[in-house]
Amino acid sequence: MRLVLLGAPGAGKGTQCKNIVAEYGLLHLSSGDILRRHRADGTELGRKAQSYMDSGALVPDEIIIEMMTEAVNQAPSAGLILDGFPRTVNQAVELDKALTGNGYAIDAVLNLKIDDSIVAGRMTGRRSCPKCGAVYHLQNLKPKVEGLCDHDGAQLVQRPDDSPKVVANRLETYHRQTEPLVEYYRNNGTVLDIEADKDPDEVKSSVFRKLQTLVRM
Ligand code: AP5
Repeated sequence: MRLVLLGAPGAGKGTQCKNIVAEYGLLHLSSGDILRRHRADGTELGRKAQSYMDSGALVPDEIIIEMMTEAVNQAPSAGLILDGFPRTVNQAVELDKALTGNGYAIDAVLNLKIDDSIVAGRMTGRRSCPKCGAVYHLQNLKPKVEGLCDHDGAQLVQRPDDSPKVVANRLETYHRQTEPLVEYYRNNGTVLDIEADKDPDEVKSSVFRKLQTLVRM
């Protein structure tokens, strides 16, 4: 399977990707995680991306497309799930070209639907593990020991772009530049809509129900 996960910041893309990967054994390619790794490693790409990410703007297409098509081209044939890419119609067109070149296509796009008013609470309460990338929430998804990752005991951190001002910019960027992608993929008949404002297990069940219909096809 080749899947794309669409949704506003904080819709739960990363959270649901982990469930899908555990169930279906797909490779999880998160453009945000790859960019954050570049920043942590101090690469040139990471330095170029920094100001865009910190302000809540999109990193320019030419940087992202090269980074992500390279990752897609190296993916194993078992399949992958793309989280955070594509984010513009131009990125989607280039992704299609890369997949077609390898004899593949997108099987489905999971569209996590959520109201902007719910996003703010999710972002300010999010804490992540700098070591393994596990994601928690102060109220909704607590670690077993407060402040520490369940998997490796690392001290959890807050993402710098989760401040209220940057979250507002990220939402505006999403509606202006990324939401048109839903229509782009609807025209190909591959969109599976998911109500993402439910609790995490309910969202997981509805994601799995939709994916099962795909597997049976
Ligand atoms: P990126 O890292 O992709 O951020 P994002 O899309 O804004 O999404 P998030 O990671 O913030 O949210 P999520 O939907 O994964 O939610 P999560 O599961 O963590 O991108 C960051 C930046 O990189 C961008 O702003 C941009 O600058 C740049 N970038 C990346 N890709 C790019 C591209 N293709 N082109 C250009 N620039 C790019 O959940 C959030 C919180 O809510 C967690 O605490 C979680 O525990 C909790 N939660 C999850 N689900 C539920 C639920 N159902 N109920 C209650 N709480 C929940």
